[in-house]
Amino acid sequence: MGTIRRPLVAGNWKMNGGLEGAAALARDIAAGSSDLPCDLLVCPPAVYLNVVAGALADAGVALGGQDCHGDEGGAHTGDISAGMLADCGCGFVIVGHSERRADHGEDDAKVRLKATAAHRAGLTALICVGETGAERDAGRAQEVVASQLGGSLPDTTGSANTVIAYEPVWAIGTGRTPTPQEVQAIHHRMRALVSQSHGAAFGDQVRLLYGGSVNPGNATALMALADVDGALVGGASLKASDFLAIANNTGHFKNK
Ligand code: PGA
Repeated sequence: MGTIRRPLVAGNWKMNGGLEGAAALARDIAAGSSDLPCDLLVCPPAVYLNVVAGALADAGVALGGQDCHGDEGGAHTGDISAGMLADCGCGFVIVGHSERRADHGEDDAKVRLKATAAHRAGLTALICVGETGAERDAGRAQEVVASQLGGSLPDTTGSANTVIAYEPVWAIGTGRTPTPQEVQAIHHRMRALVSQSHGAAFGDQVRLLYGGSVNPGNATALMALADVDGALVGGASLKASDFLAIANNTGHFKNK
């Protein structure tokens, strides 16, 4: 019997909403967050971290940043350090999201530095990988994900400070997802790869999230997969009822 991994459902609010909406969404999520079969994480825009932290109060919902710089501090206009996120109450930070990789030219080496910075600040790094549509069409999905994993996970990686999300770029915000069989195949391969690189115990314990157009309708099938330990949710995380419905769909993991 393998390790029981408690699922994590993470909401990536991206650059959406305003101050009032962020507070209201956090309050609604907090109100519905008791007795969930998983851990819950919300990642609001950085400027709203404080207000969201206040609205979450003692609900037991974790807070995360959407990105951090790889350095501890210094002359990096517009950037935010992992330590600053920790100061705002964050326990997590997303690094290597495909939108950061595309919009800001972040490569695996940079993602690795960011994950290292997160670990140094005591945060859990939620490291994202995933192939583009063109890479998938060329039959290179597994190869691309393997290469991103190899380049993005620092030596400081452990199951207590790292979560990995597989997010095929072509599935993000499109309403399209791989089939459950395809998701399971790639997650299984990812677990094997990180077992090789970071040890069997890590491979057994690390939580592998699926992200890309997860909604209450498709969550049950995706979350039931043996090597899927939760979801990284974008659009559907902006509606508390949808986000909580996805979180409730992870219940059967308890018996895995
Ligand atoms: P989506 O975004 O759920 O809107 O597809 C997921 C993500 O980018 O993390």
